[in-house]
Amino acid sequence: MSVDTRHWIGGERVASATTFTDVSPVDQAELGEIARGGAAEVDAAVAAAQAAFPGWAATSREERAGVLRAIADGVEKRLEELANVETLDNGALLRSHRRGVMPRVAHNFRFFADWLEGLAHDDFDTRGHGNHVSWDPAGPCALITPWNAPLMLATWKVAPALAAGNTVVLKPAEWSPLTASLLADIAAEAGLPPGVLNVVQGYGAEAGAALVAHPGVRRISFTGSVPTARHIAQAAAANLTPLSLELGGKSPLLVFADADLDLAVDLAVEQYDNAGQVCLAATRLLVESPIAEEFARRFAERAAALVQGDPRDEATDIGPNIHPRQLDKIDGFVRRAVTGGARALVGGGPNTDLGGLYYRPTLLAGVEQDSEIVQEEVFGPVLTLQTFDGEDEGVRLANDTRFGLAATVATGDRERAERVTARLVAGTVWVNCFFVRDLRAPFGGSRESGVGREGGNWSFDFYCDVKNTVSAPRGWRENG
Ligand code: NAI
Ligand code: MG
Repeated sequence: MSVDTRHWIGGERVASATTFTDVSPVDQAELGEIARGGAAEVDAAVAAAQAAFPGWAATSREERAGVLRAIADGVEKRLEELANVETLDNGALLRSHRRGVMPRVAHNFRFFADWLEGLAHDDFDTRGHGNHVSWDPAGPCALITPWNAPLMLATWKVAPALAAGNTVVLKPAEWSPLTASLLADIAAEAGLPPGVLNVVQGYGAEAGAALVAHPGVRRISFTGSVPTARHIAQAAAANLTPLSLELGGKSPLLVFADADLDLAVDLAVEQYDNAGQVCLAATRLLVESPIAEEFARRFAERAAALVQGDPRDEATDIGPNIHPRQLDKIDGFVRRAVTGGARALVGGGPNTDLGGLYYRPTLLAGVEQDSEIVQEEVFGPVLTLQTFDGEDEGVRLANDTRFGLAATVATGDRERAERVTARLVAGTVWVNCFFVRDLRAPFGGSRESGVGREGGNWSFDFYCDVKNTVSAPRGWRENG
């Protein structure tokens, strides 16, 4: 593995006086000493982004789209390396990095290249006056990303920000810093001019905090936890920097008695993907009473058959969690729930056969609606099971948290699906499916799950300073 662990600022590698150690969740191997950036490195990166902005903003749509497509090609050329590095760094499955995640990283760049070229603008006539609406680039963007899907989530932001003609300072999560550094290499090889994409490594409280407070930043896009989002919103308030926040969730999977039960169990088991470290995960299984027992039996059978182990192994379904702190956090939630009366129908603790950071896929029953385990995001392979009777109770339980990121409904009845989805509070609702994502469609969270939507024009709305130019029918020399 050869990843440059320094910052990438103004087209150059830059070291810091101090570093921190990146440890693999797979086998606790030390992956590298990562540059520990702070205010000085952030100042330099924002200055580089400001200096590069006029040039990049002035490129034609075709030129920018061309560079984005070259980045996509570069991602595909180095797909095997990216997949392996990401697995070592964050412990997610190598097979899903190879087949799912990294191809989608390339797609993120191609999609926003295509969207940019097709970007429509409005023209209105007002008593002979022309209104012309244009998508002007906004300036340097601060992008702060988490560790659960590092390159995937970074490129959801980097690609539209660059497509819009902005420059970028990316601060990846300190638990998974490596693929952002590889992205800098790929972008440079693709012909992205120096200073258009900068990567500052470091801790959230240091590099992250300095970046979001910087007055030179014109947009902040963040994916991560709610408490950190509050800090960022406070910092952004000082400069009135526009914000996009994609935060946590406690999403429900509503299973009605008329659902295809095999499908519903499949959807439920899928919630253990990435060892449960998925913001969208439907961690609350809400099952209609008549089928609850049968559902729990089939679910337990399926969960028992899941293979836990090394994420590089093709046969593995569930790998390790990211960090000892995260494992402790997960186990703390489960222990408190059990102390409070919950029963573990499946799992219920760390996988002591494997040791390390492996936590057994867990299903907890006997949980109260207002309990911590039902209300708070665990971000691990821990699901709760509750029963309900009828649509009203199902919807009430589904909506009864402070979050609103996603919801999944399993039902065989189309009319019921329409009634129920209309009442759910969520940025995304899936019916008899999960995780299907089209970049043309809006994505984001309601309530404390986020601010704003991304995808298609929603992304350009956020990353652009939209301008309306009104021209009079008179005053032109040639027309008198
Ligand atoms: P976090 O929200 O603290 O970290 C996300 C990113 O924010 C990282 O790059 C971090 O360095 C940065 N950051 C932290 N403090 C900052 C600050 N003051 N200013 C600017 N940037 C800052 O999340 P963390 O601590 O890694 O995970 C804690 C919990 O957050 C998880 O257990 C999970 O519940 C939730 N989470 C949710 C994610 C999602 O996709 N919605 C992703 C990651 C975590
Ligand atoms: Mg790591």
